[in-house]
Amino acid sequence: MRPEIRIPQRILCVCLGNICRSPTAEAVLRQQIEQVGWSITVDSAGTSNYHPNKAPDSRSQRYAAARGLDLSGLRARQVALADFYQFDLILAMDHNNYADLQQMQSMAVQQYAGRAPRAQLALMSEHDAIWPQQAVPDPYYGAAQDFERVLDQCFSAAEGWVKFWRSSDHTASATVIRGQACD
Ligand code: 4NP
Repeated sequence: MRPEIRIPQRILCVCLGNICRSPTAEAVLRQQIEQVGWSITVDSAGTSNYHPNKAPDSRSQRYAAARGLDLSGLRARQVALADFYQFDLILAMDHNNYADLQQMQSMAVQQYAGRAPRAQLALMSEHDAIWPQQAVPDPYYGAAQDFERVLDQCFSAAEGWVKFWRSSDHTASATVIRGQACD
């Protein structure tokens, strides 16, 4: 029997600055989740506090808008220790982000007196059919093609996650999320 794979109800996308990759991932994932009719909270944050409360990088906004995604209302924030207890799934854009999140998760467990965190950590690209388990490269010091590449990878990675959840035996979780079975 296959193990039950639960569809997360709250997902946090994480990169370094929370102004390029993770807001893009947030918008793409939200769009794809809405397309299949699920109601899942998607948010994003940065491992750094370089750009608190800033809107996404203007280049990220521009290239995303060309693909029908509006990032203008998003605002950057740093990952908080409480996030490890409030989200079910935290998706790292690259392997450095993943390692930083592992460290922060250990700090969260100390801070919360040993309480087991709710969040599972994974790479954004975990189920990506084209770039499996690969980094979504940081475009900040890059050019147009680097921002397009972020979008290409976010679409492919998000599709991988949605397919993974859809193909799993998730009837019980789906009932919790939607109040009725999804399919
Ligand atoms: P992000 O890109 O991690 O995809 O948001 C970056 C944004 C800002 C900086 C680095 C990466 N920075 O050094 O300010």
